[in-house]
Amino acid sequence: DIPSLKDVFTGDFLFGAAFENFELIEAADRQLLTKHFNSLTPGNVLKWDSTQPQEGEFNFEPSDQAVQFALDNGQQVRGHTLVWHNQTPDWVFRDSNGNLASKQLLYQRMEAHINEVVGRYKGKIYAWDVVNEVIDASQPDGLLRSLWYQIAGEEYIEKAFEYAHAADPDALLFINDYNTHESAKSQALYNLISRLKAKGIPVHGVGHQTHLKINYPTMSEIDSSIAKFAALNIKQEITELDIDIYSDDSTKYDTLPDNLAQTQATRYKQLFDVLLKHKDKIDNVTVWGKDDGNSWLRSFPVNRNNWPLLFDERLQSKPAYWAIVNGK
Ligand code: XIL
Repeated sequence: DIPSLKDVFTGDFLFGAAFENFELIEAADRQLLTKHFNSLTPGNVLKWDSTQPQEGEFNFEPSDQAVQFALDNGQQVRGHTLVWHNQTPDWVFRDSNGNLASKQLLYQRMEAHINEVVGRYKGKIYAWDVVNEVIDASQPDGLLRSLWYQIAGEEYIEKAFEYAHAADPDALLFINDYNTHESAKSQALYNLISRLKAKGIPVHGVGHQTHLKINYPTMSEIDSSIAKFAALNIKQEITELDIDIYSDDSTKYDTLPDNLAQTQATRYKQLFDVLLKHKDKIDNVTVWGKDDGNSWLRSFPVNRNNWPLLFDERLQSKPAYWAIVNGK
C-alpha cells in the first residue's frame, strides 16, 4: 500500500486534484481521489456554460454532485471558475439584437450569475477562482482584450470580486492564471493585484496554474515568482499543476519513453523542493487530474497520448509520484 500524498504533505499544504463527475462512477477512481487528496476542484462543472447555459436557467445537478462527493469525504473544494473568456456562453456578451451588451447589462448578468453560484455553495467551497486568465502582458495595461474587457474595461475584474465577496464573505477569492512564472506576465499580474488592493477590492490570493513543460520553465523562475508575490501579502495556491512530456506540437508517443518519465520525475521533485521551501506561503497544491488517462493534455493542443500527472492511465504510481514522495 503506497503512501497517501495528503499524508506525506500534511502540515505543508493541501494536496488537491481536479476531477470530472465520470470519475465518481468506478470504485478504483473514487478510491484514488479520496486516498491521496484532501482538496478537489471540479474540472468543468462550475464553469458558466455548465451552471448557466441559458440566461436564467441554472443547472446545478453536476456541480452539486461534484461538491457533495468532496464534502462527504471530508475534502476541501476549490471553485473554478466564475469569470473567464472560455466556456462562457455567447449570450452573456450580447443584447437582444445580437450586438455587444452594454456594460450595465453585462454587470447585471455577472452579478446574478455570481450571486447564484457562489451563494449556492456558501460555506462549502472555501476558495473561488473569481477571474481566470485575464492577463496579456503585451497590452499596455497588462489586461487581455476579452469580451469582458471590451465591454467594461478593467472595472469588470473589480465587480467580479465585489459580487463574489458579497455572495460569500468567508470565501477566499483568487485571481488565477497560467505562465505566472514568466517575468513580464507575473509583473502585469502583480501590478493588477496591487491596483485592486489599493482600491480595497477583496482579492485574497493568486492561483498559479502551473501547467509546465518537460523543458520549461526553470525552477528558479518559479522560485522567483512565488517570492515576488509574497510581497503583496496575499495567499498563493498551485491550482492546475501538470508537466507536459512534449516540447513541441508534432511529436506523438504510443507509450511514455523511460527517459522522459525520469526527466519528468526529476522536474516534479525539483518543483516540490521549491514549493516546500515556500510552504509558509502556499496553502494548496492541486494537480489538474488524478491520472494521465483523463488529462486535458490528451486533447490540447492536439489529440495525442500524454502523461503529465503522478499516476498513469491504469492508476499506477509513476516515477514522478515516487520522486516527490521519496524526496520529502
Ligand atoms: C480544461 C478542462 O480540463 C477540459 O476538460 C476542458 O475541455 C477545457 O478546460 N486552464 C484552466 C482550466 O483554467 O479551466 C482548463 O481546464 C485547463 C487550462
